[in-house]
Formats: sequence, structure tokens, C-alpha cells
Amino acid sequence: MHKIEMNVQPLVTIFYEDEPMQARQGDTVAAALLARDQMIFRVTPVTGAPRGPFCMMGVCFDCLVEIDGATNRQACMTPVVEGMRIKRQNGAGETGLDIDYDRNCQ
Ligand code: FES
Repeated sequence: MHKIEMNVQPLVTIFYEDEPMQARQGDTVAAALLARDQMIFRVTPVTGAPRGPFCMMGVCFDCLVEIDGATNRQACMTPVVEGMRIKRQNGAGETGLDIDYDRNCQ
């Protein structure tokens, strides 16, 4: 997938997995990562299956990432901010719930 370069918005620097990258101000995190060929945003808690953005409108939750230490952030609904630190989400992240996946998710 390649982004059409018609955008004249200024660039910001964000970090994905501790690597700096440029993004257009106003883009969502999902758009910025997809423009850099990043397709896997998280892995599922039960099987570890890879997931990436699907709906790009806040419905599917397949784009969950960790942003500035906060898990379960929807990349498709979050605009980039200068210096933002984004990481791939591994599993459920912090839900505030005590979930036993072996018992509850079979
Ligand atoms: S891509 Fe579906 S909620 Fe973000």
C-alpha cells in the first residue's frame, strides 16, 4: 500500500518500536504506520495471531497498539503527535481485568 503524496501537512517525528519515523501532522497512527509498510499492529491474547487495521473507522479493534505506555489505543482513531512512542501490542494489554485465558477463552 502506498500513500499518495499530495499532503502538504508538516512532518512530525514518531517512534514505532523505538525506531524514529516521519508522519504527516493530522494523520492517524494507523495511516502513518501503514504508509511505512507496517501491517501487524498487535497479536491476539489466546493464539498470538497477527492483526492489523481492517475497518479504519473505530469498529473492529484490530488496530490496538500501545501509545506512550498506554495499551488498547485504537491506532485508526488516534492522530499522531510529535514524539509519540508507539509499540505493537502483545496480547490483551492492560484491561484492568483479571482474565484467565486458559480457563475462559477455550
Ligand atoms: S482499524 Fe478497525 S478499529 Fe481501528
